[in-house]
Amino acid sequence: MTTLHPLLAGRRSTRAFDRDHVLTDGELDRLIEAARWAPSANNSQPWRVGVARRGTPEFAGLLAALAPGNARWAGTASALVLVAAQYVGDDGALRPWADYDAGQAAAHLSVQAEAEGLAVHQMGGFDPDRAGGAYALPDGTKPLVVIAVGRRDPDAVLPEPFAARETAPRTRLAPGEIMLTPALDVLPLSA
Ligand SMILES: Cc1cc2nc3c(=O)[nH]c(=O)nc-3n(C[C@H](O)[C@H](O)[C@H](O)COP(=O)(O)O)c2cc1C
Repeated sequence: MTTLHPLLAGRRSTRAFDRDHVLTDGELDRLIEAARWAPSANNSQPWRVGVARRGTPEFAGLLAALAPGNARWAGTASALVLVAAQYVGDDGALRPWADYDAGQAAAHLSVQAEAEGLAVHQMGGFDPDRAGGAYALPDGTKPLVVIAVGRRDPDAVLPEPFAARETAPRTRLAPGEIMLTPALDVLPLSA
């Protein structure tokens, strides 16, 4: 069996957030630091990040921009984080990997959150114009994702269909379905 690091194996996109949890400044700093230190093409760092704590007008604005199916549960998150990508540098250079790089920044943030005992749920279901309107986005910048961040509350009561999704097993394609080579035969993936 492959042994995956617990930070990766234990992560899941929860919808059951503790509605009373408040993120410390230190936790938020480290989440943003994790995103900031992600690798990027030519070290262009094209991600732009807006943070809104629950209870603020910015949080309400991002929540209102979410698709209805996301807005129903994301309001109990401790913060909503908008991740945008800037596709043209200040020098005018195009950044063809901006999406890829911003995704890596979000992945770094999510792993750091797991290490902090927090949970995140990334959402592509939102209105980018409405969400971006809350922030001064530089030219050539497009919102990509809103990330709900908070502490998972296993006792939180969710309406259906969200309650069932919360306890459903996480599933993935089989290794053979994602491998373009028979590398599983040669890589030491099994312990
Ligand atoms: C770019 C992106 C967009 C997503 N959009 C949504 C969304 O709008 N609503 C939602 O409930 N989950 C969304 N998700 C979460 C995925 O559904 C989830 O990651 C996937 O089902 C795997 O589950 P897991 O993260 O618990 O392993 C999104 C994830 C990513 C990476």
